[in-house]
Amino acid sequence: MDIVLHDVAPSDGERAVIDALLGPPGTSWEGATDSVSIDRGAHVAKGGHAARDQRHLLLPALHAVQARAGWISPGALDYICRRLTIPPAEAHGVATFYALFSLQPQPPVVAHVCTDVACLAGGAPALCSELEQRVGPPGAHRGNGNAIWLESPCLGLCERAPATLITVAGEEPREDSLAPAAADELTAVMAGGEVPQPPPPAVPQAGQSESGLRLLRRIGHADPGSLDSYRSHGGYGALRAAFDLGPAGVLREVADAKLLGRGGAAFPTARKWEAVARNPRRPHFLVCNADESEPGTFKDRVILEQDPFAVIEAMTVAGFTTGCERGYLYLRGEYPVAWDRLVEAIVQARTRGYLGQGILGTECNFDIELRKGAGAYICGEETALFNSIEGYRGEPRNKPPFPVDSGLFRRPTVVNNVETLINVLDIVVQGGLSYAEIGTSASTGTRLFCLSGRVAKPGLYEAPMGISLRELLMMAGGVLDGRPLRTVLLGGAAGRFMTPDELDVELSFEATREAGTTMGSGVVMVVDDSVDLPAILRRIAAFFRDESCGQCVPCRVGTVRQEESLARLANGRPRGSVADEHALLDEITATMRDASICGLGQTAADAIESALVKLNVFSDGR
Ligand SMILES: Cc1cc2nc3c(=O)[nH]c(=O)nc-3n(C[C@H](O)[C@H](O)[C@H](O)COP(=O)(O)O)c2cc1C
Ligand code: SF4
Ligand code: FES
Repeated sequence: MDIVLHDVAPSDGERAVIDALLGPPGTSWEGATDSVSIDRGAHVAKGGHAARDQRHLLLPALHAVQARAGWISPGALDYICRRLTIPPAEAHGVATFYALFSLQPQPPVVAHVCTDVACLAGGAPALCSELEQRVGPPGAHRGNGNAIWLESPCLGLCERAPATLITVAGEEPREDSLAPAAADELTAVMAGGEVPQPPPPAVPQAGQSESGLRLLRRIGHADPGSLDSYRSHGGYGALRAAFDLGPAGVLREVADAKLLGRGGAAFPTARKWEAVARNPRRPHFLVCNADESEPGTFKDRVILEQDPFAVIEAMTVAGFTTGCERGYLYLRGEYPVAWDRLVEAIVQARTRGYLGQGILGTECNFDIELRKGAGAYICGEETALFNSIEGYRGEPRNKPPFPVDSGLFRRPTVVNNVETLINVLDIVVQGGLSYAEIGTSASTGTRLFCLSGRVAKPGLYEAPMGISLRELLMMAGGVLDGRPLRTVLLGGAAGRFMTPDELDVELSFEATREAGTTMGSGVVMVVDDSVDLPAILRRIAAFFRDESCGQCVPCRVGTVRQEESLARLANGRPRGSVADEHALLDEITATMRDASICGLGQTAADAIESALVKLNVFSDGR
């Protein structure tokens, strides 16, 4: 492959972090100083498999430079291209795809301030205006020029609104969440102050003796940093049970359990696993989807931070059952605590023989690689996630082929959500039929619900499938300060708004479908009469416009037009009449739904449409 690079060099620091990741350069072309010099303009670098084998290191390399320098300079990007044999135009296309990477110089300290739905209802507007007064507008340098703040989509800390993430680049880079954030604290941190200790995890049911918790039962009890503590709370019983059952036995239990995926599409897990287990093409890969970027969603974060060994054990059971020897856990880039805990947990599991070759003296080989996203919601879509791991832009692929035939690295791949995977632990231990008695006949088991917004006790709740929305709200103490309920956003930005008359809807896959709504990723965001609902709708529209990968026209253009239309309605300046504007929105909705490649475009109008139809947000004239 011919690649032509610019004549710019990385700084010593940039070169050092790239070499630390990729190993020292082997040739002068790669930047080594002690081998034969090769004319840079006429070099034919590695091609074919040799080049493609390295490409998956692009995202980790970009992360390393961003963390070291605070931005990705042309010299650093060129050096990465040289080391990985990637044309610079392609690497540029990848680096610019992700919101957490900057290709412009940036100060080392960046405060990402969430302005998404739950934070909008929970104090973000006041925090942002304080910051504007004290620091200046987003992107403006603070006093010494060392820090800026930027508006951010949901940071997955919605129960602690308003949420912020502070990244500090340098020789010892740091990432810290500050939530809930007050302007005084945040500006102090931006000026170099200590980040206060985070509050304990918001799992209000933890410690309640009658809670009946299954997925959350270890939280608040087991030490997430200790494998021994995990084992003393029942950990690794499922892997031993899986070894006793054998792959076919585990598959039978998962099928009997009727487990449906919790990542949004409610696909039967056993069907996916069977298809990969049967597939003769090797190797097989397992992917744990921990990208969790749906606004209002934080369930996977709590699990990963508080019970990381459970996810590792569940991935090992899945790998054993489906013939995968390698699993990838793709974590969204904004979860620093989860990242650190997973790194530590994987090391402990490897050291103690729970990962690697011949696990626990069996013939099972399985190991996990961690991958970090970089601020792109679309990378939660399974095929976009594969592209992201492989070092390409996180753009969804056309389906078919489906991942079970051609997924990560074009190999048979199982991809599951974090919550789906940890359900398997109980299924294996207690048996699928017994598990299937929980919940409803079609939606078995329990579900994690992320309660946020104007609710008395925000946090992560676990309840059997089939609980009503009303019961769930009562568990969380109802509307904050007893104010009137305006609406509930169910399922996330890609979900639907529910009216106070619809609170008896049963939260199961079948009942929500029948009611024309969705549980989505388990978001239950409460909106009372104090919340600026038009602002929430416009934020949702802005989110989809910003997160559209731009690959297909209905979504790329439709999300922009949708946002413009809402802006005109909000400003009282509709094009034609209000009814004309609604008709236009209906047309945009239909086009995006019918003609978009992936779920992002297909659902980008759902929440907005439901609010316009049911909540009379703008005096609608129809
Ligand atoms: C735009 C978009 C974003 C998604 N984000 C996530 C995500 O963050 N986490 C997740 O598990 N699934 C997400 N999904 C669903 C995945 O594509 C996939 O269905 C899921 O990971 C499969 O796992 P499951 O069968 O365990 O649900 C997303 C889908 C779309 C269309
Ligand atoms: S629907 Fe949107 S996000 Fe999905 S592929 Fe098309 S442009 Fe990309
Ligand atoms: S962290 Fe702000 S909406 Fe989720």
